[in-house]
Amino acid sequence: MRTIRCKNYEEMSRRAADVIAAQLILDPKTVLGLATGTTPVGCYQRLIELNREGAIDFSEVSTYNLDEYRGLTHDDPQSYHYFMADQLFNHVNIKAANTHVPDGSNPDAASACAEYDHMVENAGYVDLQLLGIGNNGHIGFNEPCSDFPVGTHCVDLTESTIRANSRLFEREEDVPRQAYTMGVGTIMKARRVLVLASGEAKADAVRAMCYGPVEPGCPASALRLHPDCIVIADEAALSKCPEGL
Ligand code: GLP
Repeated sequence: MRTIRCKNYEEMSRRAADVIAAQLILDPKTVLGLATGTTPVGCYQRLIELNREGAIDFSEVSTYNLDEYRGLTHDDPQSYHYFMADQLFNHVNIKAANTHVPDGSNPDAASACAEYDHMVENAGYVDLQLLGIGNNGHIGFNEPCSDFPVGTHCVDLTESTIRANSRLFEREEDVPRQAYTMGVGTIMKARRVLVLASGEAKADAVRAMCYGPVEPGCPASALRLHPDCIVIADEAALSKCPEGL
């Protein structure tokens, strides 16, 4: 695990976009794994600028998102389908058919998850996986539990995640209680992983990811076993890690 220490959110976002841009320049047919949440928004804005400037091209890129709330239709403004279109896809020259998000509108969890696993596998898995991290160390929607889930599965969201994500909903009751998420096993199959973290609220999770035991109580800790994982984090997110990380 390599760490790139940044002064603040802006620098973290710029550096993350630079790593993704380098990947797209080296391989225009890159399979990108993408994340939602507020953390990657600055990185997506920078990617949009780079695309407008002609520095990067999405025309042959395909994307697979980590997760989606169960029970939301694709056009629901709270869905991750909508978020990705709004924050990135509608503003770059990517083909809509090349973008993929688990189908939260399919109530049949087993078929929605199996279908998604099949798509990711057929794509040859992800070249570069972008991740945020939850306050409790979750990645995608892999919540702390007793084992590392392998493939896409339906999860019951923890109270802490529901509370954290409720800031993006009108009322806490509106936050869906379940989600479909890629498993930790699928995330680990990505050839390179890029984890972004910003702000003091992430400091405990970042410390557990980088220094705690590798165990499913902190799903992000699995990334320590990944051969090419880069953490790009700001001072506040690294504030509970030893100096010089
Ligand atoms: C959600 C998403 C995760 C994301 C996490 C942190 O639960 N499923 O992929 O990393 O939130 O979100 P934020 O970046 O807003 O702190």
